[in-house]
Order: sequence, then C-alpha cells, then structure tokens
Amino acid sequence: MGRRHWQNWDAPGVVDWLDAEWPGLTVDPTLSSLVDLVEIHHGAGPILEVGCGTGRTHEALMRRLVLRPHGYLGLDVTPAMVERARARYPHADFRTGHLLAPPFSDAS
Ligand SMILES: C[S@@+](CC[C@H](N)C(=O)[O-])C[C@H]1O[C@@H](n2cnc3c(N)ncnc32)[C@H](O)[C@@H]1O
Repeated sequence: MGRRHWQNWDAPGVVDWLDAEWPGLTVDPTLSSLVDLVEIHHGAGPILEVGCGTGRTHEALMRRLVLRPHGYLGLDVTPAMVERARARYPHADFRTGHLLAPPFSDAS
C-alpha cells in the first residue's frame, strides 16, 4: 500500500490539520453514541477499529474504560496517521494496513 490512496488522507499536512481542527469539529456527540453502541453490543474479544486515524475514537473508548476488558487494535492505511496515534497513545496497538488486506490472519 505504498502508493497514494484516493481519499488523500496521506497528503502533506492532513494529519496536522485533522489534529488542529478536531476540537472544533462536531464529532463528540457522534463519538459518544458510537461508544454507547460498543458498550451495548460488543460481546467478547478485542475491538478492531478500521480507519483509526490519529486515535481519537480510541481515546473516547478508553475514557469510558470500554477497552479494559477487551483490548484494542487500530488499523489505518495511512502511515502518518498511525505514527501520530502511536505517539499519542504509546501503549495501544496501532498498525498500518488496508481494510481489504489486514496485517493479520483470518479468524485471528
Ligand atoms: C475520518 S479519518 C479517521 C477518524 C478516526 N476514526 C478517529 O477517531 O480519529 C478516516 C481514516 O480512515 C482511513 N482509511 C481510509 N480508507 C481506509 C482503508 N481502506 N483501510 C484502512 N484505513 C482507511 C484514512 O487513512 C483515515 O485516517
């Protein structure tokens, strides 16, 4: 997945832009509803977040302690996003990979 992908999440400056604009984006209510859904419906096993970006959803899950019993794996096709997420949350498992070719085996 070395080449640019169509959404341009890997374009220069996008990671910094996303981080800088995040507080002004109206995603908090959406994130909160997402965490509600995970709390209600997630059964057992680690949570896989595809398109984890810089880790803000991970942070929302962590804040509510949803990850404590389950564990978490964040996957993103954009290396710069994964780098930022790792820098921000060094104890979490963030990996670079495409949704259609995840870097782990089937049924793992
Ligand atoms: C809106 S941003 C991420 C928001 C993120 N959930 C958060 O909490 O900050 C969407 C992300 O999806 C990633 N992405 C897009 N297509 C992907 C694919 N096919 N496989 C994995 N990640 C993908 C992009 O690189 C980008 O970081």
